[in-house]
Amino acid sequence: MKKIALVTGGTRGIGSGISKALRDKGYLVAANYHKGHEAAEKYSTETGIPVFSWDVSDYEACEKGVEKVCEKLGGTVDILVNNAGITRDSMLHKMDPSAWSIVIATNLNSVFNMCRVIIPSMRDKKFGRIINISSVNGVKGQVGQANYSAAKAGILGFTKALAQESASKGITVNAVAPGYISTDMTDVIRDDIKEKIIAGIPVGRFGTVDEIANAVLFLADEKSSFVTGITLNVNGGQYF
Ligand code: CAA
Repeated sequence: MKKIALVTGGTRGIGSGISKALRDKGYLVAANYHKGHEAAEKYSTETGIPVFSWDVSDYEACEKGVEKVCEKLGGTVDILVNNAGITRDSMLHKMDPSAWSIVIATNLNSVFNMCRVIIPSMRDKKFGRIINISSVNGVKGQVGQANYSAAKAGILGFTKALAQESASKGITVNAVAPGYISTDMTDVIRDDIKEKIIAGIPVGRFGTVDEIANAVLFLADEKSSFVTGITLNVNGGQYF
């Protein structure tokens, strides 16, 4: 029987690349999204990947959303990719409290919500792959991203703790920490800042969504059963 994979924020940016790569590998994939119904439906038509709208920062919405996914795909989730994330960049001395709260809720609380909802069925099944998408900026910190860096660093501690809790149950829990990847999220960075960032990447360019998806495929594989609690840096050679 095909394994079921659920990707949050799975219709755009890095998430869309992950959803498609999992589909191509033969998994039954569901992609969560929040807003932008038309674009999500178009994505679904083009890729054949069913899409489900809910807000991952809302615990009850996650419960209901996962229930719908399981109903539609005919089983429980085997592979969970927590990818949904947003930025609200600003220097801390100018940061609005709402920019802090929404980034922590969307990027970090969401990981708790989704794992909390899904992990009981993985424990019952004695199999699961949880892959949390962190960021180079969670590992090293970034000017203008105290909120985002905190959330993405929080994901790393969460991943290590849950990996230890789940190790005896056939569930691996790992993080991927992408560097700067060409997506809508990085398109909006000011050109002068972009140039500085690229100068700090040994490979000399932003990465691609496929380069992140490939790392996710490795961690999702049934054979990657001895890899848990790690942060897989996929960042073009940035070292800290
Ligand atoms: N290192 C050190 N100092 C830096 C810096 C850096 N990388 N970037 C900016 N600064 C300094 C500036 O030189 C400036 O210093 P002074 O005040 O002494 O002149 C100060 O920080 C303020 O910088 P700005 O002039 O840029 O301030 P601003 O208020 O106009 O803009 C900002 C703030 C919007 C946060 C802007 O700096 C910015 O966009 N920075 C990029 C943030 C970033 O990398 N975001 C990543 C988005 S993509 C993503 O998050 C995906 C992922 O996982 C990688």
